[in-house]
Amino acid sequence: MTGDIKFTAAVVTVSDKGYRGERKDESGDLLERLLMEAGARNVSRVLIPDERDRIASNLKNLCRMKEVDLVLTTGGTGLMDRDVTPEATRDVIDREAPGIAEAIRAGSMKITPRAMLSRAVSGICGGSLIINLPGSPKACAESFEIIRPVIGHALGLLGGNCGECAR
Ligand code: MTE
Repeated sequence: MTGDIKFTAAVVTVSDKGYRGERKDESGDLLERLLMEAGARNVSRVLIPDERDRIASNLKNLCRMKEVDLVLTTGGTGLMDRDVTPEATRDVIDREAPGIAEAIRAGSMKITPRAMLSRAVSGICGGSLIINLPGSPKACAESFEIIRPVIGHALGLLGGNCGECAR
């Protein structure tokens, strides 16, 4: 649970295969459900191929035009040529929030050493928080479990509420 906070969210699935209709967007479905359970009022969904410009323009649209509070991306964080989600995220964020990506990697390393292969980043774009997650449903579930306890406080801080930092 994220506490009392209600927020708007988006899931951006980055997948060539998903975009071509060759793979069901299970990670997107899963993240949408987890976000709703965590207090999201509504969750927008986008499915795009692994193309830096497309990813960046979609992120910018969600953060700057739609003013979504929290954007989770899934996929494209690895080492392959077309894995460019972190670069596209850096193209649009104003400031990094590196601790979030570090925590996801550190927590995930307790589950699989392959977690070190994710180059995911996290940061702030306008008033929105963007967090990259890896592509598989398993990795999404494990990563979400790590960020779930701090989502409410993070979004509260972004909204200018720093009342509970002492906890
Ligand atoms: N993180 C968690 N929690 N669980 C996982 O199974 N898989 C790793 C890593 N992070 C994994 C994980 C693997 S195998 C890869 S290649 C990278 O995420 C990048 O995945 P992506 O290219 O689908 O984003």
